[in-house]
Amino acid sequence: MRANSPPVVSNQHGPHPDLAEVVARHLEHPWRAPLHQPSARVFAAWVAAVAAPGRELILDSGCGTGDSTRLLALQNPEALVLGIDQSEVRLQAEDSDLQQIGAHAWLLRARAETIWRCLLAASFRVSRHCLWYPNPWPKSAHLQRRWHGHPAWPDLLQLSATIELRSNWATYVDEFALALAQSGWQAERDVVAGSEAPVSPFEKKYRESGHALHRLRAQPR
Ligand SMILES: C[S@@+](CC[C@H](N)C(=O)[O-])C[C@H]1O[C@@H](n2cnc3c(N)ncnc32)[C@H](O)[C@@H]1O
Repeated sequence: MRANSPPVVSNQHGPHPDLAEVVARHLEHPWRAPLHQPSARVFAAWVAAVAAPGRELILDSGCGTGDSTRLLALQNPEALVLGIDQSEVRLQAEDSDLQQIGAHAWLLRARAETIWRCLLAASFRVSRHCLWYPNPWPKSAHLQRRWHGHPAWPDLLQLSATIELRSNWATYVDEFALALAQSGWQAERDVVAGSEAPVSPFEKKYRESGHALHRLRAQPR
């Protein structure tokens, strides 16, 4: 990956004015859209392969190449570790939408928002949910594509005991923190230090491009 990534450019200057209203609407009205069927099918295949619901689960949603999922699996050998990405190209998943990459670690090619609902329905609980460098969707009109503006927001919160967001766009993290506070969560924010080893290819690229890497670690109040 080249290390000359431009900073995120947006027509938004600060948190979106509709953020609180959008979050309130999603908290009030559970998301009922049909599941993305190919994602639900790969989830069913994963459940059959795991055969151990109820174990600690670490989730890497939007895992890209899966390098960060491999790292999480190495660091947490006792946990189930699941990386999810919708992109066949990123996951190099042309052969199978379900890849086992370690004794307890898998990559799924699927839509994260469908997998979250499936995990909830199957009574899984995520001890650590990594949202590392999600697509920023920087256009103001795209607020509802950002995770905190997405109708899946209540599912994300219900599923996760802790969430760690990383982003090179401060506004994304500002909005995420506001949405968390509105939803009864607390968060600590810092900047990933240059001395920390990069957790993912995008983190490495953004660091080498000189971007500030914002991090938010959150849990329910
Ligand atoms: C900017 S990349 C970051 C990848 C990786 N986390 C990293 O830090 O290197 C964002 C990733 O999120 C994935 N993605 C976006 N929306 C998604 C969704 N709804 N479900 C699953 N993956 C998604 C994209 O395919 C892309 O690989």
